[in-house]
Amino acid sequence: MKLVSIEEAVDFLNQDKVVAIPTETVYGLAANAFSETAVLRVFETKSRPSYNPLIVHIADHDRLADLVSTFPENAKVLADKFWPGPLTLLLPKSNRVSDRITAGKSTVAIRMPSHPITQNLLKKLDFPLVAPSANRFKHISPTKPSHVFDSLGAGVPIIDGGECKLGLESTIVGFDTHNTPVVYRQGTISLESLQEVLPETYLLNQESDSEKTIVAPGMIKRHYAPNTPLKIVDSIENHLEEFGSENKIGVIYPVHTKPHQLAAQTITLSRGGDLNEIAEKLYSAFHQLDKQNLDYLIIERFENIGLGRTLNDKINRASSED
Ligand code: TXA
Ligand code: MG
Repeated sequence: MKLVSIEEAVDFLNQDKVVAIPTETVYGLAANAFSETAVLRVFETKSRPSYNPLIVHIADHDRLADLVSTFPENAKVLADKFWPGPLTLLLPKSNRVSDRITAGKSTVAIRMPSHPITQNLLKKLDFPLVAPSANRFKHISPTKPSHVFDSLGAGVPIIDGGECKLGLESTIVGFDTHNTPVVYRQGTISLESLQEVLPETYLLNQESDSEKTIVAPGMIKRHYAPNTPLKIVDSIENHLEEFGSENKIGVIYPVHTKPHQLAAQTITLSRGGDLNEIAEKLYSAFHQLDKQNLDYLIIERFENIGLGRTLNDKINRASSED
């Protein structure tokens, strides 16, 4: 694993190279947003199809003028409340933002991360950073340096910021023709917390068959998925016999539980069942259990409200077969 300092990362980024950076959500694969060469390298390194647009990361509001043509009032309200933090806004792009970044769309995704290392890094650069999650296309997002290494290999320099505090990708919010906020991707900022600020906020209808025609390609059904098939059940206790008697099963318990004898491996996400802690640990559990040669992973559905709704969305995608 090639761990680098902030200063070394600055040098790499100034040379149009990619660097994996820690954020409060997941690790990102960063590059100079104003360099076509650098942006192209991000797509190549991830094997990401060119129709899937990138998020641009900034450290402060001064940078916005370079990137967007307008900043709607509702976007300001959300930015004031949630930036810096795990919120990405889809805003009308300026001419300076390339079509490669937005995959030809008229909007650009912008996020102001709160992670101190990445804030510090951005302040040392003359350009904003594009940064998709630092994993190969369709794999689970990395929440620690070893996940980046496992997915992208030794060629990618990594700034070690330890484990990501939130553990799920940012919440993505766009605006419809009436400038009403629309949630394109759920994250740790839940629908309910957005509605506390702007009550008219709603969830995009996310069902779509073709990943190329949908508005946010991160919404493709099978995404964030482990290689081992994931089964979602209402009660682990009641379903273990069904899966576990003839298979090697990995059980992901949301809260501390006495491991079942039929479970070959178990992981507890949170001793006390705290949803924030569960969100922080979920992807790490997928990464870890995926290495154990198991037949199935089993997890319980969450109560469908607040962060529980986000978690259900993530596990539904992770368990989807297409
Ligand atoms: O938490 C995060 O957002 C992380 C960290 C590194 O910042 N980044 C991240 O990026 O998750 P990525 O590329 O893995 O996911 C970005 C999602 C993709 O699903 C992409 O399709 C969508 O954002 N997206 C980007 N620009 C868009 C646009 N203009 N319109 C609609 N969706 C967009
Ligand atoms: Mg991603």
